Amino acid sequence: MTLNNRHQPVLLQEILNLLDCAPGECVVDATVGYGGHSFEICKRLGEKGTLIGIDRDEEAVECAWTVLHTFPCRVEILHGNFARIDELVWGLEIEQVDKILYDTGVSSPQLDQPERGFSFVDAPLDMRMSQSDSETAADLLAYISEQDLARVLREYADERRSRSIARAIVSRRLGSPIRTTGELRALVHRCYGGMSHQHGIDTATRTFLAIRIALNRELENLKVSLEKAWKLLRPGGRLVTISFHSGEHRIVKEFIQRRLGRCICPPGMPKCGCGARIEAELLVHGTITARPLETANNPRSRSAQMRGIRRIEQ
Ligand SMILES: C[S@@+](CC[C@H](N)C(=O)[O-])C[C@H]1O[C@@H](n2cnc3c(N)ncnc32)[C@H](O)[C@@H]1O
Repeated sequence: MTLNNRHQPVLLQEILNLLDCAPGECVVDATVGYGGHSFEICKRLGEKGTLIGIDRDEEAVECAWTVLHTFPCRVEILHGNFARIDELVWGLEIEQVDKILYDTGVSSPQLDQPERGFSFVDAPLDMRMSQSDSETAADLLAYISEQDLARVLREYADERRSRSIARAIVSRRLGSPIRTTGELRALVHRCYGGMSHQHGIDTATRTFLAIRIALNRELENLKVSLEKAWKLLRPGGRLVTISFHSGEHRIVKEFIQRRLGRCICPPGMPKCGCGARIEAELLVHGTITARPLETANNPRSRSAQMRGIRRIEQ
């Protein structure tokens, strides 16, 4: 993987502005991927700074190291799940950090390698973000109940035909297991009466997204990780996120609300149980999204939403 064909970082300038990295700081890139954001971050850290890059994808870790290790700052690239961000950082004997970045989801190289099973190119139905996980999407579809599958399709990807797709998957596997991306895609197209596209989007897109999120436990990991990241952040430190779909946006928004001291408990609760406390201030009101020039050059950036908060001194 070279600098030219690796992942194109989303909202790069906006991220750099919001993180506002300075020489000597310690920055965690919780989704280092192919090092796109971290490459620019490292340039700003000088000799005394530290960049800690985390990714659960072995190939990404290898590539990030190749791209970043020559910078004069301390560079630590760790293979692991950001759900364990605190242990990973403390394992380096670092107690607190200045900045933390999340750029969630999958990277272009992951999508572009058919054998990873994330795309529509016919290949084994894998979809594992970490090659060391044992269960693939094909394994998941072999045992998940119809009810759970319908819920996953509905909740993770707003799939309107969740019930009929779940029913079709479960009845199909009684005959033979679904082993490839092509088989899954064709099955979803049949649930849409043979329609492969709607509003210019492949009708199997939502099903693929939902199964990927469920298999990799993406929402659970993000929720746990943000709480742990907050404990790592020193007063005055900044936490910046880029999220790509409604499930992620909701988790980040709720996390930020609680840190701003705004209760997110359901109405009618006798007492606040969400732990809302004023611990942060907004770095940006609402969200920052990609400009038309970026979305034209990098379609992945279309759904990106960036948010950021600063931990206040207490
Ligand atoms: C959008 S890419 C990041 C790209 C990176 N910012 C860059 O510019 O090259 C998201 C990365 O997050 C990683 N990832 C997703 N969930 C993760 C998790 N729970 N723990 C660690 N890494 C994760 C993926 O493997 C992927 O490499």
